[in-house]
Amino acid sequence: MSDGSVDIRQEARQQAAALPLDQLNPAQPELFTSDTMWAQFERLRRESPVHYTENSEYGPYWSVTKYNDIMAIDTNHQVFSSADGIVLQSLESKAESAGRPTRPSFIGMDPPKHDVQRKAVSPAVAPHNLAQMAPVIRERAGAILDGLPIGETFDWVDLVSKELTAMTLATLFDFPFERRRDLTYWSDMMTNPPGHGVCESWEQKRSELTKCFDAFDGLWADRIKDTEPKFDMISMLAHNPATRDMDEHEYHGNVTLLIIGGNDTTRNTISGSIFALNQNPAQYRKLRENPSLIPSMVSETIRWQTPLAHMARTATQDHEIGGKTIRKGDRVAMWYVSGNRDDEVIANPDNYIIDRERPRQHLSFGFGVHRCVGNRLAELQLQIIWEEILARFPTVEVVGEPQRTHSVFVKGYETLPVIIPTRN
Ligand code: HEM
Repeated sequence: MSDGSVDIRQEARQQAAALPLDQLNPAQPELFTSDTMWAQFERLRRESPVHYTENSEYGPYWSVTKYNDIMAIDTNHQVFSSADGIVLQSLESKAESAGRPTRPSFIGMDPPKHDVQRKAVSPAVAPHNLAQMAPVIRERAGAILDGLPIGETFDWVDLVSKELTAMTLATLFDFPFERRRDLTYWSDMMTNPPGHGVCESWEQKRSELTKCFDAFDGLWADRIKDTEPKFDMISMLAHNPATRDMDEHEYHGNVTLLIIGGNDTTRNTISGSIFALNQNPAQYRKLRENPSLIPSMVSETIRWQTPLAHMARTATQDHEIGGKTIRKGDRVAMWYVSGNRDDEVIANPDNYIIDRERPRQHLSFGFGVHRCVGNRLAELQLQIIWEEILARFPTVEVVGEPQRTHSVFVKGYETLPVIIPTRN
């Protein structure tokens, strides 16, 4: 792998150092596509940990970049509300640009409504259900890996990361298995702005998402006929007294949340683990020599990758933090990607160390009432795929630069070229 990326990062550091402080604005997708946002975050943590950016493509917003400040905001839903959406672009403006009504989901709600909707789907990812899913995930992971080409370059994102997560998501929804990659496609359609990834225009987005919601309306109509709820999330929503009467926009909002939540994040961590271990060959060696490190490697990768770079909130009242006053109505980005590199809390945070003392100490799943409902399912999939990888292949080698996702929210990979060497 060439490392022209070192020069690019050096240049980014010089540029970030030269900018007047008030012009720092990490919410630029281009910084994430080129993996050069780190320099701005380093400077913000050092010089202005709670920072106001007046002009950005998402309007004015605060950046919160240190671990403990992020934790304080994430656990204070009374002051920092999710009701205007959890990405920097607000729900209304998103709907307006797409020319459609808003689609609320429980990640974009505050208690008490949030709590009852969350409760309706959480049994699908509770320990008992996960124990039943584990052997199924293992069988599928094995089949995916056994079908990979040996000795030739292929895209790990497409053949492994997307495939395993699409299969798991199909099970969570009891969605037709043979159409599982529709879920990946719709997730990509939802998260990409026009002109990026699979999304060419607003018109295409609208028409493809109509197909998605029609399919999910069909699932609801099917599940509602059962006298008892089944194990899948759609059945749980259709039968739970707290959610069975929700309107179609809310149902579609929750479908969107579950498709994206269950898809991009885990997929990008699977790809991230291959990338990180290749960038850190000594860590990869340590893992091969000691597979019992898989669980802590998984947590370290989730920290190192931070598959969702931020979550946003709106202040419901004036609030002082880090010596600054956030005003009522202001938008706030909790940059998990930066808090996970805060050396006041995490030792050597820029280093990828698979046997860290406290590997689960990271912000990637958030904290407070919205803490990721699927975190154990994500870890389970990663754990299993790595047990199966180590049982089969001496190495999986990255042979080119990944193409990164054009987003300040989803931090991931569009492609990752790899090769599995032939055995001698
Ligand atoms: C919420 C990250 C996997 C479903 C969240 C939040 C984060 C997150 C940061 C918001 C936390 C907050 O605001 O405090 C991740 C990461 C994953 C992952 C990094 C993988 C490595 C999954 C999976 C599912 C899922 C597999 C599948 C069901 C959800 C849902 C919510 C959520 C439904 C909303 C929870 C609520 O609002 O109460 N996730 N997630 N996530 N995640 Fe995940």
